[in-house]
Amino acid sequence: MSAPHIRNRYTDLIHQTFFFPRHGFEVIDNQLFFHGIDLNALVKEYGSPLKFTYLPKIESQITKAKELFASAIEKYQYNASYNYCYCTKSSHFSFVLNEVLKSNVDLETSSAFDLDIIKTLETKGKFRKDQFIVCNGYKTDSYAQKMAEMVDMGYNNLVCVLDNPEELDLINKYTKNQTNLGIRIATEEEPNFLVYTSRLGMSYKRVVDLYESKIKDHPNFKLKMLHFFVNSGIKDTTYYWSELTRLVNVYCDVKEVCPDLDTLDIGGGMPIYTSLGVEYDYGYMIDQIVYYIKSICESRGVPEPNIFTEFGSFTVGESGGVLYSIIGKKEQNDKEQWYVIDSSFITTLPDTWGIGQKFILLAINQWDHEFQRINLGGLTCDGQDFYNSDTHTNQVFMPKITDDEPLLMGFFHTGAYQESLGGYGGIQHCLIPAPKHLIIDRNETGELTYQLFAEEQTPEAMLKILGY
Ligand SMILES: Cc1ncc(COP(=O)(O)O)c(C=O)c1O
Repeated sequence: MSAPHIRNRYTDLIHQTFFFPRHGFEVIDNQLFFHGIDLNALVKEYGSPLKFTYLPKIESQITKAKELFASAIEKYQYNASYNYCYCTKSSHFSFVLNEVLKSNVDLETSSAFDLDIIKTLETKGKFRKDQFIVCNGYKTDSYAQKMAEMVDMGYNNLVCVLDNPEELDLINKYTKNQTNLGIRIATEEEPNFLVYTSRLGMSYKRVVDLYESKIKDHPNFKLKMLHFFVNSGIKDTTYYWSELTRLVNVYCDVKEVCPDLDTLDIGGGMPIYTSLGVEYDYGYMIDQIVYYIKSICESRGVPEPNIFTEFGSFTVGESGGVLYSIIGKKEQNDKEQWYVIDSSFITTLPDTWGIGQKFILLAINQWDHEFQRINLGGLTCDGQDFYNSDTHTNQVFMPKITDDEPLLMGFFHTGAYQESLGGYGGIQHCLIPAPKHLIIDRNETGELTYQLFAEEQTPEAMLKILGY
């Protein structure tokens, strides 16, 4: 159905509200395309709900960050290197790690099982033993033991980042060979947060003491890295810049007593586009980070450190999407219209439910229809399984449904954290199955290729977990 005379069409709304098309989106004949992928055709072929990962976006994100750091390093004649680590917890899938490692990046881990992934990648020839492994997270016995085993196996650039002083004793229990250490410094939280100081890492006041008393003269330990992660993420705010400068000064304090120290890991938190209504100047942020580190070190007479980042969302977030069909409609009162999706937000996009995360949400077809304000409901019987506000307008608008064809919609840039938090492939709320997952890539000639990674979860798979 085409209705060119209507002015309050969904297409008018999107084009008037945002700079559109951008971020790989475009609309052809009232159908949405994403990086050239015909999403309507995709749902016709594979059905919905459908999760997908567009692999080329991973490489382009890594390249973007590496190039921006390289140009800031050149501009400020920064005399140390930049290392891009991928934070594995944002997506552990093999197809993500395989893609990430093609760009020759290092890895950051959070728990013992992460190390099993790395050993598997090494045996498959995808990871070298001389690449960096930054081991963050709380050190349990098995995590510490696995780290020590890997150092013994020749993973020479594994860095165990201490979250608290007691972890040193645990590491000491297992290490036989020289082990690189890092120390995570606790950041101060934003003034409106529930606690003053992050629970992760240790107070900067304890660092020099810990180094002097337990690391300096230990035959197996070298303190190589200081690490921090500003919880707000990397943002152009007074809070971020004051935390960064404070922590670079801590680096200089420790460097004055510890000659082995040569690396500052500034964590993850590079933002991604979760709305069409925001703008990030990545070049400016990276330029300023390098500038601050360089100028503070220069003024303190300390050689500048190698800079490590651990970008998770930035690496993989914008590669992911999930497509749903609207399978029902309800009108609960004069104002509240509901569209029912064919899956659950709680399990397929758990951040929308857990932390009120917004994602880019767009209709896939029917852009020539009139729009209306709606609430989106999931299939579970949970009152919290809904989505009704985007970042920009605090509302959600979708094309009006007609009987002609089902309305399809997609959430985009959903590639980080959603599967692990949603317990992908496990027991799902109200037993709504995990969707099919499709991997989309481009071949040497630039054509799109499609590979089904997983079918929709079966009743047998779920019943097995449940013990039937
Ligand atoms: C220590 C550490 N590094 C890196 C990251 C990745 O953060 P992001 O996904 O925002 O880049 C996290 C996320 O929680 C983290 O805790």
